[in-house]
Amino acid sequence: MKKIRVDLAERSYDITVGTNVLKKIGDILRPFGLGPKIAIVSNPTVFSLYGRPVVNAIKKAGFDACTVSIPDGEEYKSLLWLQHIYNELLAHKLDRSSALIALGGGVIGDITGFAASTYMRGISYVQMPTTLLAQVDSSVGGKTGVNHHLGKNMIGTFWQPRLVWIDTETLKTLPGKELLAGIAEVIKYGVIWDKELFDFLDDKKGKILDLDERAVKQIIKRSCEIKADVVSRDERESGLRSILNFGHTLGHAIETATDYKRYLHGEAVALGMCLEARLSQKLKLIDTKEVERITRLIDSFGLPSALPADIDMERILSSMQLDKKAIAGELKFVLPERIGRVRIHKGVAGRAIKDLLKS
Ligand code: NAD
Ligand code: GLY
Repeated sequence: MKKIRVDLAERSYDITVGTNVLKKIGDILRPFGLGPKIAIVSNPTVFSLYGRPVVNAIKKAGFDACTVSIPDGEEYKSLLWLQHIYNELLAHKLDRSSALIALGGGVIGDITGFAASTYMRGISYVQMPTTLLAQVDSSVGGKTGVNHHLGKNMIGTFWQPRLVWIDTETLKTLPGKELLAGIAEVIKYGVIWDKELFDFLDDKKGKILDLDERAVKQIIKRSCEIKADVVSRDERESGLRSILNFGHTLGHAIETATDYKRYLHGEAVALGMCLEARLSQKLKLIDTKEVERITRLIDSFGLPSALPADIDMERILSSMQLDKKAIAGELKFVLPERIGRVRIHKGVAGRAIKDLLKS
Protein backbone atom coordinates (compact mmCIF):
# COMPACT_ATOMS: atom_id res chain seq x y z
CA MET A 1 0.00 0.00 0.00
CA LYS A 2 1.17 3.50 -0.77
CA LYS A 3 0.71 6.31 1.72
CA ILE A 4 0.79 10.05 1.07
CA ARG A 5 0.56 12.72 3.76
CA VAL A 6 -1.43 15.94 3.44
CA ASP A 7 0.48 18.20 5.77
CA LEU A 8 -1.87 20.69 7.44
CA ALA A 9 -0.82 20.84 11.09
CA GLU A 10 -3.69 19.52 13.26
CA ARG A 11 -5.77 18.88 10.13
CA SER A 12 -3.12 16.60 8.53
CA TYR A 13 -4.18 13.23 7.17
CA ASP A 14 -3.06 10.29 5.05
CA ILE A 15 -4.14 9.20 1.62
CA THR A 16 -3.71 5.45 1.21
CA VAL A 17 -3.72 3.75 -2.18
CA GLY A 18 -4.22 -0.02 -2.18
CA THR A 19 -5.91 -2.90 -3.95
CA ASN A 20 -8.77 -4.88 -2.40
CA VAL A 21 -8.61 -2.77 0.73
CA LEU A 22 -12.28 -1.75 1.16
CA LYS A 23 -12.79 -4.47 3.74
CA LYS A 24 -9.95 -3.12 5.89
CA ILE A 25 -11.63 0.21 6.59
CA GLY A 26 -13.11 -0.87 9.95
CA ASP A 27 -9.79 -1.83 11.50
CA ILE A 28 -8.14 1.24 10.03
CA LEU A 29 -10.68 3.54 11.72
CA ARG A 30 -10.36 1.92 15.18
CA PRO A 31 -7.49 4.13 16.40
CA PHE A 32 -9.14 7.38 15.25
CA GLY A 33 -10.91 7.98 18.56
CA LEU A 34 -14.34 8.09 16.95
CA GLY A 35 -17.63 7.44 18.73
CA PRO A 36 -19.62 4.28 18.03
CA LYS A 37 -21.79 5.57 15.15
CA ILE A 38 -20.66 5.76 11.54
CA ALA A 39 -22.91 6.64 8.58
CA ILE A 40 -21.94 5.45 5.12
CA VAL A 41 -23.22 7.87 2.47
CA SER A 42 -23.44 6.48 -1.05
CA ASN A 43 -25.70 6.14 -4.09
CA PRO A 44 -27.50 2.97 -5.28
CA THR A 45 -25.02 2.36 -8.14
CA VAL A 46 -21.97 2.36 -5.92
CA PHE A 47 -23.64 0.88 -2.85
CA SER A 48 -24.84 -2.17 -4.80
CA LEU A 49 -21.23 -2.81 -5.85
CA TYR A 50 -19.25 -1.90 -2.76
CA GLY A 51 -21.60 -1.06 0.11
CA ARG A 52 -21.80 -4.48 1.75
CA PRO A 53 -18.07 -5.06 2.31
CA VAL A 54 -17.74 -1.56 3.78
CA VAL A 55 -20.75 -1.92 6.11
CA ASN A 56 -19.54 -5.36 7.22
CA ALA A 57 -16.02 -4.08 7.87
CA ILE A 58 -17.35 -1.19 9.95
CA LYS A 59 -19.59 -3.49 12.00
CA LYS A 60 -16.85 -6.07 12.46
CA ALA A 61 -14.63 -3.38 13.95
CA GLY A 62 -17.32 -2.74 16.59
CA PHE A 63 -18.95 0.38 15.14
CA ASP A 64 -22.66 0.89 14.77
CA ALA A 65 -23.10 1.37 10.99
CA CYS A 66 -26.03 3.02 9.24
CA THR A 67 -26.39 3.93 5.59
CA VAL A 68 -27.64 7.03 3.80
CA SER A 69 -28.48 6.84 0.12
CA ILE A 70 -28.91 9.68 -2.32
CA PRO A 71 -29.86 9.16 -5.97
CA ASP A 72 -27.08 8.87 -8.55
CA GLY A 73 -26.36 12.11 -10.43
CA GLU A 74 -24.89 15.59 -10.28
CA GLU A 75 -28.38 17.11 -9.89
CA TYR A 76 -28.67 15.46 -6.46
CA LYS A 77 -25.61 17.32 -5.15
CA SER A 78 -28.14 19.82 -3.88
CA LEU A 79 -29.44 21.54 -0.76
CA LEU A 80 -32.52 19.34 -0.94
CA TRP A 81 -30.51 16.11 -0.71
CA LEU A 82 -28.20 17.63 1.88
CA GLN A 83 -31.32 18.10 4.00
CA HIS A 84 -32.07 14.40 3.46
CA ILE A 85 -28.61 13.51 4.80
CA TYR A 86 -29.14 15.68 7.91
CA ASN A 87 -32.55 14.04 8.45
CA GLU A 88 -31.01 10.58 8.35
CA LEU A 89 -28.10 11.52 10.63
CA LEU A 90 -30.52 12.93 13.18
CA ALA A 91 -32.86 9.95 12.90
CA HIS A 92 -29.93 7.62 13.55
CA LYS A 93 -28.83 9.84 16.45
CA LEU A 94 -25.34 10.58 15.21
CA ASP A 95 -23.57 12.93 17.59
CA ARG A 96 -20.43 15.07 17.59
CA SER A 97 -18.21 12.00 18.00
CA SER A 98 -19.74 10.23 14.98
CA ALA A 99 -18.23 10.07 11.51
CA LEU A 100 -19.42 9.90 7.92
CA ILE A 101 -17.90 7.80 5.15
CA ALA A 102 -18.28 9.07 1.59
CA LEU A 103 -18.39 5.98 -0.62
CA GLY A 104 -18.61 7.01 -4.26
CA GLY A 105 -17.40 9.53 -6.81
CA GLY A 106 -16.96 13.28 -6.48
CA VAL A 107 -20.68 13.95 -6.12
CA ILE A 108 -20.94 11.77 -3.01
CA GLY A 109 -17.59 13.04 -1.72
CA ASP A 110 -18.55 16.72 -2.05
CA ILE A 111 -22.01 16.49 -0.48
CA THR A 112 -20.86 14.16 2.32
CA GLY A 113 -17.94 16.45 3.13
CA PHE A 114 -20.31 19.40 3.26
CA ALA A 115 -22.74 17.51 5.51
CA ALA A 116 -19.82 16.57 7.81
CA SER A 117 -18.58 20.14 7.96
CA THR A 118 -21.95 21.48 9.10
CA TYR A 119 -23.64 18.69 11.07
CA MET A 120 -23.46 19.67 14.74
CA ARG A 121 -20.87 22.33 13.79
CA GLY A 122 -18.56 19.81 12.16
CA ILE A 123 -17.84 16.11 12.54
CA SER A 124 -15.23 13.73 11.11
CA TYR A 125 -15.50 12.18 7.68
CA VAL A 126 -13.56 9.74 5.56
CA GLN A 127 -13.29 9.72 1.78
CA MET A 128 -13.55 6.34 0.04
CA PRO A 129 -13.47 7.49 -3.60
CA THR A 130 -14.56 5.02 -6.27
CA THR A 131 -14.06 6.99 -9.51
CA LEU A 132 -10.63 7.86 -10.91
CA LEU A 133 -11.54 11.54 -10.83
CA ALA A 134 -12.37 11.34 -7.15
CA GLN A 135 -9.26 9.25 -6.39
CA VAL A 136 -6.87 11.71 -8.04
CA ASP A 137 -8.63 14.97 -7.29
CA SER A 138 -11.91 15.57 -5.48
CA SER A 139 -11.36 13.36 -2.42
CA VAL A 140 -8.16 15.24 -1.52
CA GLY A 141 -7.95 18.81 -0.32
CA GLY A 142 -11.15 19.39 1.62
CA LYS A 143 -13.24 21.33 -0.89
CA THR A 144 -16.83 20.34 -0.12
CA GLY A 145 -20.11 21.62 -1.42
CA VAL A 146 -23.40 21.42 -3.23
CA ASN A 147 -24.77 23.07 -6.35
CA HIS A 148 -27.22 25.98 -6.42
CA HIS A 149 -29.59 26.52 -9.32
CA LEU A 150 -27.61 29.69 -10.12
CA GLY A 151 -24.26 27.91 -10.27
CA LYS A 152 -22.24 24.75 -9.69
CA ASN A 153 -20.46 24.30 -6.33
CA MET A 154 -21.75 27.68 -5.17
CA ILE A 155 -22.38 26.61 -1.57
CA GLY A 156 -19.51 24.95 0.23
CA THR A 157 -16.78 24.81 2.83
CA PHE A 158 -13.18 23.81 3.28
CA TRP A 159 -13.31 20.79 5.60
CA GLN A 160 -10.53 18.22 5.49
CA PRO A 161 -11.29 14.49 5.77
CA ARG A 162 -9.61 12.41 8.50
CA LEU A 163 -8.45 9.89 5.89
CA VAL A 164 -8.65 9.18 2.16
CA TRP A 165 -8.85 5.42 1.57
CA ILE A 166 -8.47 4.46 -2.09
CA ASP A 167 -9.13 0.98 -3.47
CA THR A 168 -7.99 0.80 -7.09
CA GLU A 169 -10.03 -2.37 -7.55
CA THR A 170 -13.21 -0.25 -7.70
CA LEU A 171 -12.07 1.16 -11.05
CA LYS A 172 -12.79 -2.20 -12.69
CA THR A 173 -16.53 -1.47 -12.69
CA LEU A 174 -16.23 2.18 -13.70
CA PRO A 175 -17.66 3.01 -17.16
CA GLY A 176 -14.87 3.75 -19.69
CA LYS A 177 -16.00 7.34 -20.23
CA GLU A 178 -15.74 8.03 -16.49
CA LEU A 179 -12.24 6.54 -16.42
CA LEU A 180 -11.16 8.89 -19.22
CA ALA A 181 -12.65 11.87 -17.39
CA GLY A 182 -10.33 11.01 -14.49
CA ILE A 183 -7.37 10.63 -16.82
CA ALA A 184 -7.91 14.22 -17.96
CA GLU A 185 -7.20 15.38 -14.39
CA VAL A 186 -4.04 13.23 -14.29
CA ILE A 187 -2.86 14.84 -17.55
CA LYS A 188 -3.49 18.19 -15.85
CA TYR A 189 -1.04 17.30 -13.05
CA GLY A 190 1.54 16.35 -15.68
CA VAL A 191 1.20 19.70 -17.43
CA ILE A 192 1.12 21.90 -14.32
CA TRP A 193 3.76 20.14 -12.22
CA ASP A 194 5.46 16.99 -13.44
CA LYS A 195 6.82 16.27 -16.91
CA GLU A 196 7.79 12.76 -15.80
CA LEU A 197 4.14 12.00 -15.06
CA PHE A 198 3.20 13.41 -18.46
CA ASP A 199 5.80 11.15 -20.14
CA PHE A 200 4.60 8.17 -18.09
CA LEU A 201 1.03 8.72 -19.33
CA ASP A 202 2.33 8.85 -22.88
CA ASP A 203 4.49 5.70 -22.52
CA LYS A 204 2.03 3.57 -20.56
CA LYS A 205 -1.23 4.59 -22.23
CA GLY A 206 -2.19 1.01 -23.14
CA LYS A 207 -1.45 -0.31 -19.65
CA ILE A 208 -3.38 2.49 -18.00
CA LEU A 209 -6.42 1.94 -20.21
CA ASP A 210 -6.20 -1.81 -19.47
CA LEU A 211 -6.15 -0.94 -15.75
CA ASP A 212 -2.77 -2.55 -15.19
CA GLU A 213 -2.45 -2.43 -11.40
CA ARG A 214 1.06 -1.00 -11.20
CA ALA A 215 0.49 1.67 -13.82
CA VAL A 216 -2.83 2.76 -12.33
CA LYS A 217 -1.43 2.88 -8.80
CA GLN A 218 1.48 4.92 -10.05
CA ILE A 219 -0.70 7.62 -11.65
CA ILE A 220 -3.01 7.80 -8.62
CA LYS A 221 -0.12 7.99 -6.18
CA ARG A 222 1.71 10.66 -8.15
CA SER A 223 -1.46 12.74 -8.66
CA CYS A 224 -2.24 12.56 -4.94
CA GLU A 225 1.33 13.53 -4.07
CA ILE A 226 1.07 16.61 -6.26
CA LYS A 227 -2.34 17.60 -4.94
CA ALA A 228 -1.20 16.99 -1.35
CA ASP A 229 1.86 19.15 -1.92
CA VAL A 230 -0.15 22.01 -3.42
CA VAL A 231 -2.91 21.85 -0.77
CA SER A 232 -0.37 21.63 2.06
CA ARG A 233 1.13 24.91 0.85
CA ASP A 234 -2.13 26.71 0.06
CA GLU A 235 -5.16 25.07 1.65
CA ARG A 236 -7.65 27.85 0.91
CA GLU A 237 -6.59 28.79 -2.61
CA SER A 238 -5.10 32.15 -1.87
CA GLY A 239 -2.50 31.64 -4.60
CA LEU A 240 -0.71 28.44 -5.62
CA ARG A 241 -3.78 26.15 -5.36
CA SER A 242 -5.36 27.95 -8.31
CA ILE A 243 -2.88 26.19 -10.64
CA LEU A 244 -5.13 23.15 -10.16
CA ASN A 245 -7.65 25.07 -12.24
CA PHE A 246 -5.63 24.72 -15.45
CA GLY A 247 -8.11 23.88 -18.22
CA HIS A 248 -11.01 24.67 -15.92
CA THR A 249 -11.73 28.30 -16.88
CA LEU A 250 -12.62 27.43 -20.47
CA GLY A 251 -13.71 23.91 -19.46
CA HIS A 252 -16.27 25.30 -17.07
CA ALA A 253 -17.53 27.80 -19.66
CA ILE A 254 -17.94 24.94 -22.16
CA GLU A 255 -19.88 22.88 -19.60
CA THR A 256 -22.19 25.83 -18.89
CA ALA A 257 -22.65 26.60 -22.60
CA THR A 258 -23.66 22.99 -23.23
CA ASP A 259 -25.99 22.82 -20.18
CA TYR A 260 -23.75 20.20 -18.50
CA LYS A 261 -25.20 17.62 -20.90
CA ARG A 262 -22.66 17.18 -23.66
CA TYR A 263 -19.43 16.65 -21.74
CA LEU A 264 -18.45 15.04 -18.46
CA HIS A 265 -16.48 17.47 -16.28
CA GLY A 266 -13.15 15.76 -17.10
CA GLU A 267 -13.91 15.83 -20.83
CA ALA A 268 -14.64 19.56 -20.68
CA VAL A 269 -11.38 20.06 -18.73
CA ALA A 270 -9.47 18.13 -21.46
CA LEU A 271 -10.91 20.46 -24.09
CA GLY A 272 -10.24 23.46 -21.84
CA MET A 273 -6.58 22.39 -21.41
CA CYS A 274 -6.10 22.18 -25.21
CA LEU A 275 -7.64 25.64 -25.67
CA GLU A 276 -5.73 27.20 -22.79
CA ALA A 277 -2.46 25.71 -24.10
CA ARG A 278 -3.24 27.31 -27.46
CA LEU A 279 -3.99 30.58 -25.72
CA SER A 280 -0.56 30.38 -24.09
CA GLN A 281 0.95 29.78 -27.52
CA LYS A 282 -0.85 32.81 -28.96
CA LEU A 283 0.52 34.90 -26.11
CA LYS A 284 3.99 33.52 -26.94
CA LEU A 285 4.44 31.99 -23.50
CA ILE A 286 5.02 28.42 -24.72
CA ASP A 287 6.65 26.66 -27.65
CA THR A 288 4.31 25.31 -30.37
CA LYS A 289 5.82 21.81 -30.04
CA GLU A 290 4.81 21.64 -26.36
CA VAL A 291 1.25 22.64 -27.22
CA GLU A 292 1.13 19.97 -29.90
CA ARG A 293 2.33 17.35 -27.39
CA ILE A 294 -0.35 18.30 -24.88
CA THR A 295 -3.06 18.18 -27.55
CA ARG A 296 -1.75 14.88 -28.94
CA LEU A 297 -1.75 13.17 -25.55
CA ILE A 298 -5.30 14.31 -24.79
CA ASP A 299 -6.45 13.23 -28.23
CA SER A 300 -4.68 9.87 -27.99
CA PHE A 301 -6.68 8.98 -24.87
CA GLY A 302 -9.85 9.63 -26.87
CA LEU A 303 -10.62 12.81 -24.93
CA PRO A 304 -11.99 15.86 -26.78
CA SER A 305 -9.26 18.19 -28.01
CA ALA A 306 -11.10 20.55 -30.38
CA LEU A 307 -14.31 22.53 -30.16
CA PRO A 308 -17.05 20.98 -32.29
CA ALA A 309 -18.33 23.17 -35.13
CA ASP A 310 -21.87 23.34 -33.75
CA ILE A 311 -20.92 24.74 -30.36
CA ASP A 312 -22.43 28.12 -29.43
CA MET A 313 -19.37 30.42 -29.08
CA GLU A 314 -21.49 33.32 -27.85
CA ARG A 315 -22.73 31.20 -24.94
CA ILE A 316 -19.16 30.25 -24.02
CA LEU A 317 -18.15 33.90 -24.08
CA SER A 318 -21.16 35.07 -22.12
CA SER A 319 -20.68 32.41 -19.46
CA MET A 320 -17.19 33.85 -19.00
CA GLN A 321 -18.80 37.28 -18.79
CA LEU A 322 -17.12 38.14 -22.03
CA ASP A 323 -20.25 39.25 -23.81
CA LYS A 324 -20.32 42.34 -25.98
CA LYS A 325 -20.20 44.71 -23.03
CA ALA A 326 -17.38 43.01 -21.18
CA ILE A 327 -15.16 42.04 -24.09
CA ALA A 328 -12.77 44.87 -23.19
CA GLY A 329 -12.21 43.28 -19.75
CA GLU A 330 -9.37 41.02 -18.61
CA LEU A 331 -9.37 37.50 -17.20
CA LYS A 332 -7.09 35.34 -15.05
CA PHE A 333 -5.81 32.11 -16.59
CA VAL A 334 -3.41 29.35 -15.57
CA LEU A 335 -1.21 29.04 -18.64
CA PRO A 336 1.51 26.48 -19.39
CA GLU A 337 5.03 27.74 -20.14
CA ARG A 338 6.26 24.21 -20.84
CA ILE A 339 5.11 20.72 -19.86
CA GLY A 340 5.56 20.60 -16.08
CA ARG A 341 5.34 24.33 -15.47
CA VAL A 342 2.50 26.86 -15.50
CA ARG A 343 2.08 30.47 -14.51
CA ILE A 344 -0.91 32.42 -13.31
CA HIS A 345 -1.52 35.07 -15.94
CA LYS A 346 -3.74 37.85 -14.70
CA GLY A 347 -4.22 40.14 -17.67
CA VAL A 348 -5.59 38.05 -20.55
CA ALA A 349 -7.65 40.36 -22.74
CA GLY A 350 -11.21 39.34 -23.51
CA ARG A 351 -10.44 39.95 -27.18
CA ALA A 352 -7.71 37.23 -27.09
CA ILE A 353 -10.28 34.65 -25.87
CA LYS A 354 -12.74 35.67 -28.54
CA ASP A 355 -10.08 35.32 -31.23
CA LEU A 356 -8.96 31.96 -29.81
CA LEU A 357 -12.46 30.50 -29.91
CA LYS A 358 -13.17 31.81 -33.37
CA SER A 359 -9.84 30.72 -34.92
P1 NAD B 1 -19.79 11.08 -10.02
O1 NAD B 1 -19.60 11.13 -8.58
O2 NAD B 1 -21.09 11.53 -10.59
O3 NAD B 1 -19.52 9.58 -10.51
C1 NAD B 1 -19.66 9.28 -11.88
C2 NAD B 1 -20.56 8.07 -12.11
O4 NAD B 1 -19.84 6.89 -11.80
C3 NAD B 1 -21.80 8.04 -11.24
O5 NAD B 1 -22.87 7.55 -11.99
C4 NAD B 1 -21.42 7.06 -10.14
O6 NAD B 1 -22.53 6.43 -9.55
C5 NAD B 1 -20.59 6.08 -10.91
N1 NAD B 1 -19.61 5.34 -10.13
C6 NAD B 1 -18.82 5.79 -9.13
N2 NAD B 1 -17.93 4.86 -8.79
C7 NAD B 1 -18.18 3.77 -9.56
C8 NAD B 1 -17.59 2.50 -9.68
N3 NAD B 1 -16.52 2.17 -8.99
N4 NAD B 1 -18.12 1.64 -10.57
C9 NAD B 1 -19.19 1.97 -11.32
N5 NAD B 1 -19.78 3.18 -11.29
C10 NAD B 1 -19.26 4.06 -10.41
O7 NAD B 1 -18.66 11.89 -10.81
P2 NAD B 1 -17.12 12.19 -10.50
O8 NAD B 1 -16.52 12.47 -11.82
O9 NAD B 1 -16.51 11.17 -9.63
O10 NAD B 1 -17.18 13.55 -9.67
C11 NAD B 1 -17.70 14.74 -10.22
C12 NAD B 1 -18.02 15.68 -9.09
O11 NAD B 1 -16.82 15.97 -8.39
C13 NAD B 1 -18.61 17.00 -9.52
O12 NAD B 1 -19.70 17.31 -8.70
C14 NAD B 1 -17.49 18.00 -9.28
O13 NAD B 1 -17.96 19.29 -8.98
C15 NAD B 1 -16.78 17.37 -8.13
N6 NAD B 1 -15.37 17.74 -7.99
C16 NAD B 1 -14.95 18.18 -6.77
C17 NAD B 1 -13.62 18.52 -6.58
C18 NAD B 1 -13.16 18.93 -5.20
O14 NAD B 1 -12.01 19.33 -5.06
N7 NAD B 1 -13.99 18.80 -4.20
C19 NAD B 1 -12.71 18.42 -7.63
C20 NAD B 1 -13.16 17.96 -8.86
C21 NAD B 1 -14.50 17.63 -9.04
N1 GLY C 1 -10.01 20.63 -7.89
C1 GLY C 1 -9.36 21.85 -7.58
C2 GLY C 1 -9.02 22.01 -6.13
O1 GLY C 1 -9.22 21.12 -5.34
O2 GLY C 1 -8.54 23.04 -5.76
